[in-house]
Amino acid sequence: MAVVTTHRTQVAIVGAGPAGLLLGHLLHLNGIDSVIVENRARDYVIDRVRAGVLEQGTVDLLNAIGVDAGLRRRGLRHEGFYVSVLGSRHRIDLSSLTGGKAITVYGQNEVVRDLIDARIETARPLYFNAEQVAVTAVDSPSPVVRFRHDGAEHAVHCDFVAGCDGFHGVCRPAIPDAALTIYERVYPFAWLGILAEAEPSSDELVYTYHERGFALFSMRSPTVTRLYLQVPPDEPIERWPDEAIWAEMLERMRARDGWQPNVGRIIQKSVTPMRSFVATPMRHGNLFLAGDAAHIVPPTGAKGLNLAAADVLVLARAMKAYYERGDTGKLSEYSDVCLRRVWKAQRFSWWMTSTLHRFPGENAFDYQRQVADLDYLTSSRAAMTSLAEQYVGLPFEVSFESAGLPAVEQEAATH
Ligand code: APR
Ligand code: PHB
Repeated sequence: MAVVTTHRTQVAIVGAGPAGLLLGHLLHLNGIDSVIVENRARDYVIDRVRAGVLEQGTVDLLNAIGVDAGLRRRGLRHEGFYVSVLGSRHRIDLSSLTGGKAITVYGQNEVVRDLIDARIETARPLYFNAEQVAVTAVDSPSPVVRFRHDGAEHAVHCDFVAGCDGFHGVCRPAIPDAALTIYERVYPFAWLGILAEAEPSSDELVYTYHERGFALFSMRSPTVTRLYLQVPPDEPIERWPDEAIWAEMLERMRARDGWQPNVGRIIQKSVTPMRSFVATPMRHGNLFLAGDAAHIVPPTGAKGLNLAAADVLVLARAMKAYYERGDTGKLSEYSDVCLRRVWKAQRFSWWMTSTLHRFPGENAFDYQRQVADLDYLTSSRAAMTSLAEQYVGLPFEVSFESAGLPAVEQEAATH
């Protein structure tokens, strides 16, 4: 019989994405033990290209936990962005509309790299390349996470499992179907995204509404441009040779004021489907779902990573209250507290997506209404204020102090 290495910890965290790693660090700062189990290789997790917009509150949180050295050096603070409607560019002045707030462009893979470094510094366990990860006994007071690593069997006995294993993970399926309610919308288009070796031609993002469909200009560094195009769902990437991508990008993004992205060598390209998804409640027994394991947003509002950060702040507060005072109330509230913010971000992401994309089958009335929506959005200070408030991020539902962190100055003061 195979020998099983048995671990005992307080919280078993499944998944080393932003949610799992950030939770691990928040627990560490509160003296709570955890084991993180990730099924991919370290380099795969770090190199995976994802979104890159951090809300003001996410930046503040990374500051508060002290994982902010890379962010301060390489993060690009943006105090506004552009909406380009049928060739005319309008600036949304995020800072003046929100009393000085901003977003920071910093790749999710950079955030993950920094959090992995921080985890390794704590010397707390983090297993990459874990195989056959299975979550059991979540209804009992002592759930177990089992996995194989380097040919050996492991069993992690814990008080709680944090399901931070993304949309395709094993934690949500460990909950009986009858115990979950699923809310879902799949959009009739996808995003083709590229990274290009080209100096960003704008200091700020440009969200483009064009008759041929949505396009987005973003960046990763002073030498790397990140661009997206609305394409049909399930579009094979082979249908898009580099020249075709550039032709379509330029056609959609070229503005009447002469602005367009710089062209360069394409170093990465992929197609991402778009969906809105929420599974409730976010807790079953002693299993707590956080981040993409519980909810997915279409990337138009750039909310995915930020929602994951907000969830684990609420979860860390609940676990701290439990271990410090035996208070189970905050654990009971976890799902409801998270879902308040999750649904507002869902609404915002759906609205950004619906406003900026062309929908197959729409009629002339739909088109005129959409153009009028965008005209209103770019000409009314009230409409721009609502957009800006949500884009920089609605407030977290719980304070940093309640999760055992020092209160920090707003990020605006630290740059
Ligand atoms: N066992 C262990 N780990 C797993 C398993 C499994 N069976 N299945 C998936 N994982 C890992 C994935 O490899 C990944 O590293 O869980 C991690 C989940 O990370 P993310 O998908 O990044 O999800 P999350 O941490 O919730 O972060 C949300 O990620 O998907 C983006 O746009 C989304 O920005 C948002 C953010
Ligand atoms: C990105 O830079 O990857 C990005 C920016 C804004 C979005 C989505 C993705 O809305």
